[in-house]
Amino acid sequence: MLSAFTCQSFFIMASITDTARISLDIQCLTIEPTRYVPDLKEDVCAGLLNRPRSLPPKYFYDARGSELFNRICDTPEYYPTRTEDALLQQAGSAIISQTRPDYIIELGSGNSNKTKKLFNACEQQTHVCAYAPFDICRPVLEAAAGELKENYRWLEVEPLLGDYHAGLGNLPRYDGVKLYLFLGSNIGNFIPKDARAFISEIKDQMKPGDYLLLGADRIKPPSVLNAAYNDSQGVTALFNLNVLRVLNRELEADFHIDNFTHEAIYNERLNRIEMYLASKTPQEVAIDKINEKIRLEMGEKILTELSYKFHPDELEAMFSDLGFNIIQHFEPDNRYFSLVLARLK
Ligand code: AVJ
Repeated sequence: MLSAFTCQSFFIMASITDTARISLDIQCLTIEPTRYVPDLKEDVCAGLLNRPRSLPPKYFYDARGSELFNRICDTPEYYPTRTEDALLQQAGSAIISQTRPDYIIELGSGNSNKTKKLFNACEQQTHVCAYAPFDICRPVLEAAAGELKENYRWLEVEPLLGDYHAGLGNLPRYDGVKLYLFLGSNIGNFIPKDARAFISEIKDQMKPGDYLLLGADRIKPPSVLNAAYNDSQGVTALFNLNVLRVLNRELEADFHIDNFTHEAIYNERLNRIEMYLASKTPQEVAIDKINEKIRLEMGEKILTELSYKFHPDELEAMFSDLGFNIIQHFEPDNRYFSLVLARLK
């Protein structure tokens, strides 16, 4: 999930000529939130000033954090991205022949890389549709839309700019059959009741006969999960620690990165990875922009991310309870990941 501040950092990354060229022919439709979205200051006050201390995971993704996330995806231990990509490659043609969508709407589309597997399947079936990628970050959205327009001439791309979590209620009304995508196991960042609530909010946008394709990471041996979030090159550690750099920059805080360690452990009872930053020593940290100082004990932890893992029945039950039919549940041989294709009754 990306936040508004991320955009700025991404803007620096994109080359000016690229951005200028692309923004000439890419029109983003801005989607306003339907409810109040707290900013970094408010999130930090709510999360860091009280115990247990926590930070929302969306603040990982500034330019450096996004780069580090891409590097995580390339580590041998982090299986989800490449597993989901291979699954989309395999299942793409079945998904398109079943759904025959007029519109593909992707929530948190980022670089739209995985979605190309579906456009390739469309090409093979000479099926034409439109694509509405929905993301918070204009430069990333424009770059992705520009690239898709170049590579898939037949594809109508209508980028939606905004917070997909808060903006769902303001989506344009599309005609025809819609296929919603929510990929990457981003759903794992929600606590279970919020995950359900979010799928239910997607459902409120759908008409009977529309489809939702959900990508979700599965419960598996703790050794595999612990390794995926504790890669041997230490990229995940850098990614986790990066959020402190974000606070240093954005809130004029003085976190000493070396005074913290990355911890990620699989909680078998709650089926989730819990990621923390632990204080190596007793220390005081000033956060100037909110005029606060926080005192951390030695070993005190800040919760930075929850990443839930799912049982296949749990995913199917969620869809059934909300009034969907499960059309197909794709999984690889090792059952490490699920792609659930559901149709609203
Ligand atoms: C992007 C939220 C799906 O939970 O696996 C990767 C983020 N955090 N390694 C995940 C992440 C540490 C990732 N999601």
